[in-house]
Amino acid sequence: MLDHSYESALKKLEAFSQTHLLKYYGELAPAEREVLLKQIAETDFSVVHTGKTDAERGIISPIPVTELDEIASRRGEFFSAGMDEIRAGRVGAVLLAGGMGTRLGSDAPKGVYNIGITKELYIFECLFNNLMDITRQAGGSVHLFIMTSDKNHEATVGFLKEKAFFGYDESYVHFFMQEMAPASDYTGKVYLEEKWKISTSPNGNGGWYSSMAKWGMLDIVKESGIEWLNVFAVDNVLQRIADPVFIGATKIAGCSVGSKVIKKAEPNERVGVMCLEDGRPSIVEYYELTDEMRSAVNEDGKPAYNFGVILNYLFRVGELNEIMNAKLPMHIVEKKIPCLDENGEKVEPEAPNGYKFETLILDMIHLLNGCMVFEVLREKEFAPIKNKTGVDSVESARELLKKNGVEL
Ligand code: UTP
Repeated sequence: MLDHSYESALKKLEAFSQTHLLKYYGELAPAEREVLLKQIAETDFSVVHTGKTDAERGIISPIPVTELDEIASRRGEFFSAGMDEIRAGRVGAVLLAGGMGTRLGSDAPKGVYNIGITKELYIFECLFNNLMDITRQAGGSVHLFIMTSDKNHEATVGFLKEKAFFGYDESYVHFFMQEMAPASDYTGKVYLEEKWKISTSPNGNGGWYSSMAKWGMLDIVKESGIEWLNVFAVDNVLQRIADPVFIGATKIAGCSVGSKVIKKAEPNERVGVMCLEDGRPSIVEYYELTDEMRSAVNEDGKPAYNFGVILNYLFRVGELNEIMNAKLPMHIVEKKIPCLDENGEKVEPEAPNGYKFETLILDMIHLLNGCMVFEVLREKEFAPIKNKTGVDSVESARELLKKNGVEL
């Protein structure tokens, strides 16, 4: 049981140089004091730092990619191996929907965004439809675990219940919440959002498996005999979920993880690319690519670092259990953080005013042996909605959906 006393809060804050968080304690009502002391007791202030974002990288080299032509020639074999896994109930899906989607500029969860034109079509609805393409073929449902955060849990659950899970069997849908992390100004001082509440934001998508464990989801995984988890982002409305060809290819290759990738549209595209780092699978971010890496070619003369990740991964559960407690690097992200100014007035900043702290799922790949790097066609499987307009936006996703025969 955590100590929620004022004395212990003060001691903890002194240790992390964050005592300003008790600045308004004297003027708070008893219930507000209780909330603040509890939050201080539960918050991990050790994540706050203002130093270098990324850990030192090892030696980067190209990773073999299973490209479209090879996949096409072995499609039948991969499909039936993957379908066997799905039909046997050995595949689950994990929807990462705990992010704030700040770039889209809506306070609501991203999945409840209506991208329809002549009819309603919600982002969540697209994902359920995509999953149901597979479950219909398989003749049974796939357990879907949905990660939310403190900021959007109720709105997400309420919305999906109201929409009757868009026709998906409710008993196969399970919600769990990720953890929050404190958000700070540029000097590392944690902000207050209210006089009685610390500013927090979701702690990134890297903790999804340990959050599943905390919320008892692994009991369902175990009881149902799930051996593979297909993890995907909320915002790619074209993505294939529980894709049997991808699952079959990963299984047959004997890999503990699979990553869907697309060919980069141009060398400077802002996507993380798959590589080997010290001989293990890894992802190098676009800003980490050197000129030398950008121009490097393989033996066949093709660009060596040419396949970007789309946040659609397949993990084998056995290996996930082994790395569950491994520490992932803590990334710093510059963000707009609602906070109180020096006079205790609430501020909704127009521009970034500090840092939030996140671990990322892509850092899990490096902890695993053998990755099936699986190419998919961008035009068929990648329509992310990050922004309101322009690149990776509602507009661009609509175009791509139309091209794939989805009515809007
Ligand atoms: P993004 O990197 O797009 O982050 O998330 P975001 O927070 O949703 O959006 P912006 O940057 O504020 O606009 C990629 C995927 O990871 C999930 C998101 O919901 C999305 O599916 N995610 C991100 C989480 O589940 N938790 C997080 O803490 C962050």
